[in-house]
Amino acid sequence: MERSKKPSAIGVAASLPQPTITFRENKIEATLPTGESVTVHLYGATVTSWKLANGREQLFMSEKAHLDGSKPIRGGIPVVFPVFGPPPPNHATSSLPQHGFARNSNWEFLGKSSSESLGKKDCDDSVKLDFGLSHTMLSEEFRKAWPYEFGLLYSVTLSKEGLETSLQVQNKGNQNFDFQVLMHTYLSIDDISQIRVKNLESKTYIDKTQNATSHTENSPALEINKETDRVYKALDPKVPIIVASAADDKPIFSVTREGLNDVVVWNPWIEKAKGMADFAPDDAYKKMICIEAGSVAGWQTLEAGESWEGSQSIRPRL
Ligand code: BG6
Repeated sequence: MERSKKPSAIGVAASLPQPTITFRENKIEATLPTGESVTVHLYGATVTSWKLANGREQLFMSEKAHLDGSKPIRGGIPVVFPVFGPPPPNHATSSLPQHGFARNSNWEFLGKSSSESLGKKDCDDSVKLDFGLSHTMLSEEFRKAWPYEFGLLYSVTLSKEGLETSLQVQNKGNQNFDFQVLMHTYLSIDDISQIRVKNLESKTYIDKTQNATSHTENSPALEINKETDRVYKALDPKVPIIVASAADDKPIFSVTREGLNDVVVWNPWIEKAKGMADFAPDDAYKKMICIEAGSVAGWQTLEAGESWEGSQSIRPRL
């Protein structure tokens, strides 16, 4: 039978619950319909919180972190660019502060896309937030210190499975520049004595606590029981760095990378933690481990007009 007023078909996508995005006080919060959430401060495009559906926070944040844009944020995922650590003398980055300017500049929120608009038809279980920083947005001081024309596009993708952060570096000028880059991820853990860091065995590392001397990792499951500040070099990015439980060897976090072949493992331990004015409480070093995916052992040279991309994907224990 023909009906004169057929109801129009409702697309499946239209009925899907959508991620919620709020933008206030210079931070963006995104929550998936399934309950996972992420918060990103425009200052440094620093991811300051990542919660699972059960409300459990996955990133460590110091109680004395400055969230007002007066200092780089102590916790979450600060972005390190264009230099890692104290800049070397007689280098294009020499006048920049430690870890460069990306973590202490105000980024722009460029917008979001959901899994539906990303082309995944049958579900809407992820959201991607894009942030940008370019030379025109830098303070005069930073522009003078590093006078290159660049663009950074940083994407933070939250899904039920995990969190991905991806950085594209563009050279918009007409001269080459060198850069280093790192995602300085502070993972939240219950007890530093109860974790082991795996998949570093036989890899070469620079030990920054021992005058930057070179060593080979001999442990299949690294225990952190003192100040640790190591740059593991030339890793296979597809092999995840696993933070595992010492008790049952189960992964608590796994970190895979693309284009980021070095990984820094950092824990300040007792004295360094006390010495950092923005690190609190003093014994919070027991509650964090930094697994920092980067390209920091040498320099990436980016030719005029070219771009480069690197990313990390963090899976939590679900
Ligand atoms: C790590 C470095 O990436 O960051 C450490 O390897 C450094 O040497 C740490 O101490 C924290 O740096 P900052 O500048 O945030 O205090």
